[in-house]
Amino acid sequence: MKIKLDDALGISLRSVDREIENMVKYDKDVPRSSELVKSILDLVRSGGKRVRPLMVIVGSRFGPSPDERKTWRLAAAAEFIHAASLIHDDIIDDSPVRRGQKALHIKLGVNGALHVGNYMSARVIELISAYSADRERYVYDLSSLATTQLCLGEYQQLSHLFDYEVTLEGYLEKSKNKTAQLMATCLKIGAQSAGADESVADLLYSFGEKLGIAFQIRDDILDFTQSAEKLGKPAGSDLRKGQVTLPVLYALRNERLAPSIRAITADTPPAITDEVIAAIQQSGALKESENLSARYLDEAQDIISRLSRYPAHRDLQALLNYFGGRDN
Ligand code: FPP
Ligand code: MG
Repeated sequence: MKIKLDDALGISLRSVDREIENMVKYDKDVPRSSELVKSILDLVRSGGKRVRPLMVIVGSRFGPSPDERKTWRLAAAAEFIHAASLIHDDIIDDSPVRRGQKALHIKLGVNGALHVGNYMSARVIELISAYSADRERYVYDLSSLATTQLCLGEYQQLSHLFDYEVTLEGYLEKSKNKTAQLMATCLKIGAQSAGADESVADLLYSFGEKLGIAFQIRDDILDFTQSAEKLGKPAGSDLRKGQVTLPVLYALRNERLAPSIRAITADTPPAITDEVIAAIQQSGALKESENLSARYLDEAQDIISRLSRYPAHRDLQALLNYFGGRDN
């Protein structure tokens, strides 16, 4: 039977949503009737699984002195950063749809959407700085919420479009920056907000990083395996846009396939790209990608066993099962 992640963790999603909405509803500098507030509330209400806030709260369960208010505000901040990055990502990717609705830059224009994204990330930086100054009880990791890494990851991706010389290390580095480090940081700052030992916070960071890479690999596999209907875009869209993801990297090792992959550029007619995508789907590249993802999940499992003295290790298991697709 499918178990919802929030149920498995015993966290009320409605409370998480309320906390996220409060980030903007009670902002003394912005009128509630403003387009800014309305846009953010619409965005928050359009869906999302709230994985990152849940990770902050799970992290806090590893500390001896929970500070609920701080943890929940950090959880909301994590979703804010994620949502802001998606606004910018949709502009960069020229993507008109997000969570089944018009993307914000379609609704407000690029300038309007950029303002909303900038405001959201600025508010988070402000919140984090205020908390970081509170060094009496906690020492915070100031790289909190990994905003720089998000930007670097996005830039790494953008600067290597249709670049078939990308290495496995380059792919993993980009995936860490773009996806894994924010998840890792969520677990870590959650732990720090509850005064957890630094060694435990670091183990949680490492767990989140492994989960995040496995998540990105799975996302890259799904781009080849899911139907166009389910993806909301044609299968193989990443490659069409020039993204050399893990399945492509493995397929490039196949001497028979490599020349046709290398020939794909932004100007290749879709029918030719379709054939290459079908060849990648039928090659062993997807299975090899799954194997690498499974290795990361195994490493994450090892970290859970190192944290087994904490009852909250069960929550890590719920996260792992969710990311590994067993309950998802
Ligand atoms: C989704 O990528 C995008 C990200 C995981 C991060 C994007 C980061 C930025 C644009 C940097 C700016 C950040 C801030 C905080 C202002 P995707 O295109 O692979 O996934 P998708 O299919 O969901 O669009
Ligand atoms: Mg995108």
